[in-house]
Amino acid sequence: MANDQLPILVFGATGRQGGSVARALLKAGWPVRAFVLDPAKPESRALQQVGAELVRGSFEEIPSVKAAMKGVHGVFSVLPGDLSAEDEVRSGTTIANLAAESRIDHFVYSSGASVGDQLTGVPRFDAKPRIEAHIRDLPLTATIIRPMIFMEMLVRPGFGLEEGRLISLIRPERSIQLTAVEDIGKIVAAVFADKPRFAGVTMKIASDRLSGHALAAALTEVAGKPITYARFPDDVLAANADLAHMASSLEGGPLADHVDLELMRELNPDLLSFRSWLAGSGRAALDAALAGGPGGSG
Ligand SMILES: NC(=O)c1ccc[n+]([C@@H]2O[C@H](COP(=O)([O-])OP(=O)(O)OC[C@H]3O[C@@H](n4cnc5c(N)ncnc54)[C@H](OP(=O)(O)O)[C@@H]3O)[C@@H](O)[C@H]2O)c1
Repeated sequence: MANDQLPILVFGATGRQGGSVARALLKAGWPVRAFVLDPAKPESRALQQVGAELVRGSFEEIPSVKAAMKGVHGVFSVLPGDLSAEDEVRSGTTIANLAAESRIDHFVYSSGASVGDQLTGVPRFDAKPRIEAHIRDLPLTATIIRPMIFMEMLVRPGFGLEEGRLISLIRPERSIQLTAVEDIGKIVAAVFADKPRFAGVTMKIASDRLSGHALAAALTEVAGKPITYARFPDDVLAANADLAHMASSLEGGPLADHVDLELMRELNPDLLSFRSWLAGSGRAALDAALAGGPGGSG
């Protein structure tokens, strides 16, 4: 049940995950305090228009984070994907430390589904597990979510769709689990609504699971023209350490773990299939990818 007095502070609220979380929390009846770098930017104004309180700050400016945490019930922490490993660990642990000092009731950290139980020794792959371990050691009621690869990542210019094919990381007969960013917010709202159930829980989250062949079938149906599926060639994977890491994680590592989609549906009855996402909020991204143009960023 939503606390009707104290807000939830949402980091990254002008971005994908934070934006989804802020909107879902508002819809669920929580007051939302959105931590934004620039209150004048259109994404910030749009949040304000749907009822969020804006606070200006940067997670690199500790006093601004401390001030934003005053009088809040919960914190949703997510960091941008373009930080160095060192900066990601520093900011992720600092936000959690400040939440513990501020005696936040419930802290939710969004990590990544490629996090496994073992460190890899590669700093950029180990930033999130190090932040997770730090959070677990703090006197803080926390829930860690690990979203699977975003549907948005597959449907971008430059991955073959403009030529009638999708090139991605799994073998055609293997399955991949995908998350619609808008589902992240609804699942996080369900987590904040039930602190006793989710205190101390680490949970992978996804919206759908489907094979390469099924990805092609869904794309073909929604695009209204044939789309085939192929895995990145081995030499391309060999030349790109990040893609190779994800591909091997999808074959037998943490990205191959099966997310309990029944649990996901219980937490979010509107859980999106890849097909329904493509036909709905993913439609614009699909159309842009089919039209080609400059490649998107991760
Ligand atoms: N790609 C995937 O498939 C996938 C899957 C699972 C997890 N992830 C992880 O998801 C995370 C990224 O989440 P996202 O995609 O939601 O991020 P995003 O859309 O890039 O948004 C980043 C947010 O952080 C804000 N921000 C940047 N610098 C800041 C600062 N110094 N102080 C305060 N706020 C700042 C940005 O504000 P502005 O809008 O003002 O710049 C924006 O709101 C990464 O850790 C990534 O590894 C990705």
